[in-house]
Amino acid sequence: MNIESNKIAGAIFGTMLVMVGLNIASDALFHEKKATVAGYNLPVPEAKASESAPAAQAAPAEALPVLLASADAAKGQNATKKCAACHSFDQGGPNRVGPNLYDVVTGPKGKAQGFGYSAALKERAAKGETWGYEELYAFLQNPKGYLPGTTMAFAGVASAKERADIIAYLRSLSGSPKPLPTP
Ligand code: HEC
Repeated sequence: MNIESNKIAGAIFGTMLVMVGLNIASDALFHEKKATVAGYNLPVPEAKASESAPAAQAAPAEALPVLLASADAAKGQNATKKCAACHSFDQGGPNRVGPNLYDVVTGPKGKAQGFGYSAALKERAAKGETWGYEELYAFLQNPKGYLPGTTMAFAGVASAKERADIIAYLRSLSGSPKPLPTP
């Protein structure tokens, strides 16, 4: 009986020891894992924060006043080669397929003398609309989108930077270039 109960007690005690041992071992593993996860977790918000920083910088760079502030009129002049088939740019220059574009920036729409504008553009002109910076920017991106019914058969300039450069060039074609919009 005594030997039997000692055996049983020994078995129970032994099992308990193994369980405690396993517990400690798994605790150590578990904590180690936790620490690893925490170590990986920490840099994630930091990485996200640094990723969102350039995105936040890119957003205002899209704004036209910001683009115009660093626009390059010389590059814009170069880009207007694709307009020159239809437009002259010099003061008193002739209307071609399209109207002369001297002093167009912030001026009234449809002001070129003797040019046969579309009904759509004449309607805007009759409302007293002007070619402000934002209007030109939108028109040059997508002429038919901005002015449905326009006879300007031109797909548009996709690059925002190039549109800003073109507008900077157009702005320079004036006896008194108008103030740039403030950001
Ligand atoms: C295929 C010929 C063609 C090309 C290329 C073209 N245009 Fe035009 N443009 C026109 C015509 C035609 C009109 C008149 C539109 C109307 O009456 O609806 C016009 C009108 C305009 C107007 C309005 C002028 C006003 O007096 O109200 C601006 C500004 C203008 N174009 C700028 C440009 C610029 C900048 C480019 C080059 C990036 C360009 N256009 C390329 C034919 C063209």
